[in-house]
Amino acid sequence: MIRNVDVSAVVPGRVASVATPAIPTHILDNARRLVSPLGTLNHGLTTGRYQSPLRYPGAKSSLAPMIARILEAAKGSRQVPEINLLVEPFAGGASASLRLVGHGIVDRVLLADVDPLVTAFWQVAAADTDSLIDRMHDEWSRYVKPGGMTGVERWDYWRSWTPARNAKPATVRLGLAVQCLFLNRTTFSGILHGKAGPIGGRKQESQYGIGCRWNPASIEERLRYIGHLYETGRLVDVWRKDWKQTLADVPEHYPQLIPSRVVAYLDPPYLEKASHLYRTSFDPSGGYGGDGAGKSRPNDHMLHIQLATYLRTKAQFRWLLSYDNNPLLTDSPWLYAHARMTPSKEDRETLGVRSWNLTKRLVKMRYTASGKTGKRNADELLITTLPSSTVPIDHQLRELPM
Ligand SMILES: C[S@@+](CC[C@H](N)C(=O)[O-])C[C@H]1O[C@@H](n2cnc3c(N)ncnc32)[C@H](O)[C@@H]1O
Repeated sequence: MIRNVDVSAVVPGRVASVATPAIPTHILDNARRLVSPLGTLNHGLTTGRYQSPLRYPGAKSSLAPMIARILEAAKGSRQVPEINLLVEPFAGGASASLRLVGHGIVDRVLLADVDPLVTAFWQVAAADTDSLIDRMHDEWSRYVKPGGMTGVERWDYWRSWTPARNAKPATVRLGLAVQCLFLNRTTFSGILHGKAGPIGGRKQESQYGIGCRWNPASIEERLRYIGHLYETGRLVDVWRKDWKQTLADVPEHYPQLIPSRVVAYLDPPYLEKASHLYRTSFDPSGGYGGDGAGKSRPNDHMLHIQLATYLRTKAQFRWLLSYDNNPLLTDSPWLYAHARMTPSKEDRETLGVRSWNLTKRLVKMRYTASGKTGKRNADELLITTLPSSTVPIDHQLRELPM
């Protein structure tokens, strides 16, 4: 077991991409260093089923055991001796990463997302846990617990809240984190964008009122778990970046882990419906994406093609990708019809990109991806460049029909 990663091999200099609000310095320092040896995990949620403080559309907690099986089977192979770092470039509620690191499947996780609310939330939950917990209890006891219109008025307040121009970065960050948590806990399906309304409706006539998903004790426990992961060096950093920047920056920050000790788990917005679920359905320029009302944008498919092209030709470390099982994904040569990666000669020589096999599996899962239709069973597609001989194949991880 090589737990002591050679810190001296890490290149200094590059810092996380520009973010508004700024990422706290102490988080950046940690980005260039892997805490070693790792602290011992000692928290009740470590081996639990649900660890994320966020309710997230498309959350992958039920897929996590299958991802764990694939990673566990690859570990110890000649090609992947250990997984010292799991990178999640589309982190959202980060349910899979939190479970995998808690269960010891991977040593550490790095979370990244393009949505500034989501990343502010994770940054504050990690590095300023007590402040967020205090604010969470305060919001609960003053606005959510009394129920009825107090909660809806507060919901309107957070929906239109924007940070003051001259506010200090730490204040802005905390405000965004509270905004994220409040809206996530009180909005239908945890959706953060402009169309979804408060749980229980604006008139609060339903038996499930605005506070029905806000259990302060349980949210506090989950927030403490995030703080604990950060303190023990298991959550190494939170980046607000577009996926491509995240994938490109990992080799610069952690060259000692390339290519065989770091794996990316990618859970991009689904090919269909994504723009109804996320503030940022698939917007490489960052910001709030789309029209805020959940309308699809014409270039969304183009962005899925860009992701596929990058993963197939430029990825410098192995990856595991989950998607809705849309036949287009495995039929189209623009997406994932290929059996192997196809890097250019130049990228092979200059970046050391390999030509790993693409292995595909189907997993049946129960998910809540659509706010309108509730839970339903559906196949999820997994594609990976982990060594194909190690990827399990059975009734849970099914081969694709020919
Ligand atoms: C399917 S969700 C991830 C759900 C997550 N796996 C979970 O279990 O909660 C997709 C996430 O990708 C983010 N996203 C959308 N476009 C992005 C981009 N261009 N770069 C990085 N993240 C992006 C969204 O903000 C959203 O949080």
